[in-house]
Amino acid sequence: MSTFGAFPRTRLRRNRRDAWSRRLVRESHLSASDLIWPVFVHEAPEAETPIVSMPGVARHSIDHLVSVSRRAYDAGVPAIAVFPVIDPAKKTLDGEEAINPENLVCRAVRAVKEACPELGVICDVALDPFTTHGQDGLVRDGYVVNDETVAVLEQQAVVQADAGCDVIAPSDMMDGRIGRVRDALDRAGHQKVRVLSYAAKYASAFYGPFRDAVGSKGNLGKGDKRTYQMDPANLDEAMREVALDLEEGADMVMVKPGMPYLDVIRRIKDEFGAPTFAYQVSGEYAMMRAAAQNGWLDWDRVIVESLVSFKRAGADAILTYAALEVAERLARDPYERS
Ligand code: PBG
Repeated sequence: MSTFGAFPRTRLRRNRRDAWSRRLVRESHLSASDLIWPVFVHEAPEAETPIVSMPGVARHSIDHLVSVSRRAYDAGVPAIAVFPVIDPAKKTLDGEEAINPENLVCRAVRAVKEACPELGVICDVALDPFTTHGQDGLVRDGYVVNDETVAVLEQQAVVQADAGCDVIAPSDMMDGRIGRVRDALDRAGHQKVRVLSYAAKYASAFYGPFRDAVGSKGNLGKGDKRTYQMDPANLDEAMREVALDLEEGADMVMVKPGMPYLDVIRRIKDEFGAPTFAYQVSGEYAMMRAAAQNGWLDWDRVIVESLVSFKRAGADAILTYAALEVAERLARDPYERS
């Protein structure tokens, strides 16, 4: 850096001075096309019931889900991810309801795809909404068993694809499930159905409000998922998970949670160059909402800033509970103009 001439010669603030030049040098962009909307569907007759720990998020009846899905599509959101709130009476030790072709998820998917065929529909593959213990797999002698669980997940993937689901998203973290699910889909004639792997899914405390929303928290009790979800301290291991899942045929990989794991997103994007999605999970949403409700944060600004940070980290798409709201806002007031 030269000390000749007027100090300082290089002034990075010049480009920041006006909105037009800030726009010209902006490195990351955000639009509705980046967003995936996770939605909760319930059996209850109410069109929607609020989720206390996620202000602004509701559980929807199938009919209401159809109408809000259409709204999301109209706002430019490419896809939704459907999460069922299963009637406690239908939960069992082995979660058999997961493979019932008439279960809530399958009925919801059929209804949404019928009303709005161009909206992408993503479904989780994991047993936790359906089990009395709230674990993602089958429990034998107090341990979530891998291979036996994968055999059930294969069937769950196929019933969901039969119902019209476009993207199967295994979120269970069993070993080897991506390849097995891919093969099961192919055998069932679903070669065109994509697989989105929750590849780097951490054993996180940020999932609390979600477990509330789907009613699995009580089931899980003091249990946790640390014997299969990743240790938050690990990054190299995330690379191994992603490498395996891509080799086994994943079309896209996901990092979850999002904001505390931006380094993981960046490294995956740099090393693999594969479609990389980020999940801004329930706890991240809840903490920003709660602070905003207290008047401590400006919600409209922090939510967009947080979503742009995913783009900067290299994410291709972001699952966020704020997708509909943000997409509708961006339609009126594009990020490009900010
Ligand atoms: C289920 C699943 C979870 C989430 C998505 N799929 C919870 C968990 O693993 O316990 C969490 C999403 C969120 O917190 O928003 N396997």
